[in-house]
Amino acid sequence: MKGMVFTEFMEMVEVTWSLDMADALIARSQVESGGAYTAVGTYPHAELFALVSALSMETGVAVSELVRTFGKHLFGRFALAYPRFFLGMNSSFQFLGGIDCVIHAEVRKLYPDAELPTFVVEAGDNRLSLTYYSEHPLADLALGLIEGCVAHFGDAVTVRREAFNNMPGAQARFVLTRKS
Ligand code: HEM
Repeated sequence: MKGMVFTEFMEMVEVTWSLDMADALIARSQVESGGAYTAVGTYPHAELFALVSALSMETGVAVSELVRTFGKHLFGRFALAYPRFFLGMNSSFQFLGGIDCVIHAEVRKLYPDAELPTFVVEAGDNRLSLTYYSEHPLADLALGLIEGCVAHFGDAVTVRREAFNNMPGAQARFVLTRKS
């Protein structure tokens, strides 16, 4: 997983909790990198799960809730770091409708070694369905990123997660509905 995901996670921990909390997570999780992440590096996914589990133990907040919150935070950081992906984008439906064939396609050009999920998109007038398939159980991250995207554009949209297959975390369906 790209280093920026880790640097943003540690930054969220420092801002929301403290630098001491960030140090405590590294000590508790015993991640092999020792927590010395750089944005351009690549690290095992397992380190993210170890850090989030450690944060859950330290705070008492459920892992799924922490990952979702991180997704919201991460979308805000992406918006600052990649302004060109937002050119001409006016709504969450427009942005998310192109998550696979536009946004992540561009991400893949920048980072050929990125391990990106697949989203199957079905668009209707006031409804957008995003079906998530991944090698990694990060559906909670996807939910947070989607919610972060809706908040970024200030859209009146509800996001519902529907039961989908029996693959906890690595497959999920998100249905967005415009409030009338
Ligand atoms: C400007 C916007 C975005 C950028 C620049 C971006 C970029 C990235 C990058 C660099 C990764 C890490 C890949 C790796 O570690 O190998 C990633 C992963 C991921 N992205 Fe995006 N992304 C964006 C928006 C979104 C949105 C809106 C969603 C949700 C619909 C999303 C869903 C995910 C998920 C769930 C992962 C984790 C990997 C997995 O589940 O397999 N991304 N993205």
